[in-house]
Amino acid sequence: MNAQRVLRAAFNRTRWILRRARGASPGHGSYFEFLEADFDRRYGVETAAIVTVDRMQVDAGARAQMADYVPTPFGLLPEVVRATRVDPTEFCFVDLGSGKGRLLVLAAEAGFDEVIGVELSELHEVAERNIRAYAGRAGRPLRISSKRQDVTTFEFPDRPLFVFYFNAFFGPVLERTLENLRVSLQARPRAVLFVWHGKRYFPEKRLQETFDRHPFLEPFVVTDDYTVFNAGRSPATR
Ligand SMILES: C[S@@+](CC[C@H](N)C(=O)[O-])C[C@H]1O[C@@H](n2cnc3c(N)ncnc32)[C@H](O)[C@@H]1O
Repeated sequence: MNAQRVLRAAFNRTRWILRRARGASPGHGSYFEFLEADFDRRYGVETAAIVTVDRMQVDAGARAQMADYVPTPFGLLPEVVRATRVDPTEFCFVDLGSGKGRLLVLAAEAGFDEVIGVELSELHEVAERNIRAYAGRAGRPLRISSKRQDVTTFEFPDRPLFVFYFNAFFGPVLERTLENLRVSLQARPRAVLFVWHGKRYFPEKRLQETFDRHPFLEPFVVTDDYTVFNAGRSPATR
């Protein structure tokens, strides 16, 4: 952790202690909840509240293969980008199952050249609102979009990709998506990093076995929280 991050963490913890002392954070009791709500306030978005699949407007067949909306903790994406040592301005960021679009905002903040989210449910509309709110504050042109579609019908853009997957869907949907990526890469070889975040939540190794069946995904950065696979040509690193 560098000095700036240590200072920021100390600053945030002090704010949390002061707010609790004043009783000013009802419903945001834990430090983690405070940080999550703080992220939404800072960017003028709503991404923190979980939405379970049974409350989403999707058909029953799709529901069986999909996960609840749970956002990635906001500190994770900058950490993953740093760990890969790639230059985000050379990549298009794609979030597979992008929910309310938190990672789309964070990817734009990280400097990705283009940012695309793919979301099956009506949470896509929340993502569009969040993108508008964020774009209004960013004060610079942004290439950022949320698409409402099933991930299996998504055509991967023909350019270097930084793909993010947080345990959004499973079984045949994940298999088909990985196969679509492999075919896209075979037709148009290019640098593609594929991030699988959320390994801690699947200790039974079900997802690991799925990734193991796709040898075009070579582990590039491996931690307890996430694996970044190198799926295509080796990316330039700094
Ligand atoms: C665990 S959340 C992840 C949200 C976001 N990627 C993040 O990390 O903050 C998973 C999301 O994937 C969406 N999803 C599930 N199956 C999908 C599919 N077949 N196509 C597109 N989106 C899907 C869910 O609706 C949910 O919003």
